[in-house]
Amino acid sequence: MAYYMRYMRKEDLPQVNKIDREAFPTQWPPPDYRRELQNPLARLLVVCEDHPDTDEPEMEIPREDSSGLTSRVKRWWRQNRFFGSEPPQSNEHCIIGFTSTWVMADEAHITNIAVRQSHQRQGLGELLLISIIDLAIELKASIATLEVRVSNLTAQSLYQKYGFAQVGLRRNYYTDNREDALLMSTESIASVPFQAHLQQMKRDHAQKYGKKIKSPTGSMSR
Ligand SMILES: CC(C)(COP(=O)(O)OP(=O)(O)OC[C@H]1O[C@@H](n2cnc3c(N)ncnc32)[C@H](O)[C@@H]1OP(=O)(O)O)[C@@H](O)C(=O)NCCC(=O)NCCS
Repeated sequence: MAYYMRYMRKEDLPQVNKIDREAFPTQWPPPDYRRELQNPLARLLVVCEDHPDTDEPEMEIPREDSSGLTSRVKRWWRQNRFFGSEPPQSNEHCIIGFTSTWVMADEAHITNIAVRQSHQRQGLGELLLISIIDLAIELKASIATLEVRVSNLTAQSLYQKYGFAQVGLRRNYYTDNREDALLMSTESIASVPFQAHLQQMKRDHAQKYGKKIKSPTGSMSR
């Protein structure tokens, strides 16, 4: 199965809401992603399965490209091909995960990230996080931040892997059970150490999942 990343569109909302409810069943009221799509601060991405309806030859990446999938995602991003106006139609099985981020001044604040349970542990959460960080860098943000439940060790592990560290604690942050939130932040995302770590993470991700997560042209299936 091939996966690709693009900006969220309003026709994705039924699937996105379904994933949100599966991921955050106790959070009430649910986030209003329709409103978020209108929010100039918000950047919403979805990871989809299946082949986009395009035959762009310049999307092919040479086999020797070591950064693999994530560099393709970045390249599509730059070319604006999958974030533009004519990507493929949503279908019932298209959207696998999503993320939303507010970019405010020099901070990219990740407000949500979720992957369908049926597709977890396949590197897609990482792929979403890498894409957000790349976007934050392109938008000239200095740091990436987020809140996460103290009990959500799975998500904390993902964030720590990508250089997020705890910088604060928000007591009784979550309204459903008054759970505390860890406030996590990266160091400067443009800094040499952060970039070196990110590039290494991309290489590791490509090595681990490159054969399973194919590009739309199929050029990763090697
Ligand atoms: C958090 C979430 C997005 C991760 O997505 P995913 O696609 O399963 O994650 P990946 O396969 O990319 O895993 C990346 C890393 O996340 C961590 N991780 C993922 N699943 C984990 C698990 N079950 N236990 C421990 N760590 C886990 C690990 O650090 C993993 O790296 P590793 O493979 O080297 O161990 C997913 O579990 C999810 O949607 N959870 C529900 C929603 C949620 O809690 N979102 C975070 C809100 S702050």
